[in-house]
Amino acid sequence: MGRIIAIANQKGGVGKTTTSINLSACIAAKGKKVLVIDIDPQGNTTSGYGIEKNELENTIYELILGDCSIEDCILKEIFPNISILPSNVNLAAAEIELIGVEKKEYILKNEVDWVKDRYDFIIIDCPPSLSLLTVNAMTTADAVLVPIQCEYYALEGLSQLIHTINLVKERLNPSLDIDGVVFTMYDSRTNLSAQVVENVKSHLSQKVYGTLIPRNIRLAEAPSYGKPINMYDAKSAGSESYMSLADEVIRNNS
Ligand SMILES: Nc1ncnc2c1ncn2[C@@H]1O[C@H](COP(=O)(O)OP(=O)(O)OP(=O)(O)O)[C@@H](O)[C@H]1O
Ligand SMILES: [Mg+2]
Repeated sequence: MGRIIAIANQKGGVGKTTTSINLSACIAAKGKKVLVIDIDPQGNTTSGYGIEKNELENTIYELILGDCSIEDCILKEIFPNISILPSNVNLAAAEIELIGVEKKEYILKNEVDWVKDRYDFIIIDCPPSLSLLTVNAMTTADAVLVPIQCEYYALEGLSQLIHTINLVKERLNPSLDIDGVVFTMYDSRTNLSAQVVENVKSHLSQKVYGTLIPRNIRLAEAPSYGKPINMYDAKSAGSESYMSLADEVIRNNS
């Protein structure tokens, strides 16, 4: 049965999408069947996987509004072992359109339940907000993985995020856990990165992944080629780090 991990942090630009794309691809490269769900109207995971997001007939938006089935929406095996439930900017309207709809926090979960047995891992890329879309992701997930950027304001907003995760656990999804935090854009040449890691570790009781994702230009370039890092530049430090994170995530979730 698929283990479902939501990648969430309401802070923008911390590496959620970079982690969704590359962690899912590296898990797939290790022989696991993976479904990637893009629940961000920015659609960056969709385009980062080389999909023309504005030419899709069915996306997660149509799915959430009940206009298509999950079968019609998933793009199967876009790369070996990788399928994707894509998104685009249309999704931005969903929150408004769902006003008054009953059990709207469970819409994604009810759909994913149909297909989760087909995958070993399901990775959900969340938008930078604690909106209904993120709540839907957390209601669907078994665990939340929190990317933290190695910068001065890293801790800001974290307690609010943890509070939201606990609320969802209490009221909507009792089996939700925090999978752990992963540090992104780590710069070994600066003291700041090391200080941020130490500071966050001392403030959090959650599991911290041992793999540090370095700041690596190849990770920033890969989306414009529509490829995950292990296919764009397998020898880069970015690829090695996401491969190592994939090992840790598989171990932690088996
Ligand atoms: N390890 C890294 N090394 C270099 N650049 C990175 C790294 N991780 C992310 N980036 C770059 O930083 C920017 C933000 O990353 P990303 O889009 O993954 O963050 P995000 O949390 O998904 O953002 P948003 O909140 O807007 O969804 C992107 O331009 C991305 O290419
Ligand atoms: Mg993103």
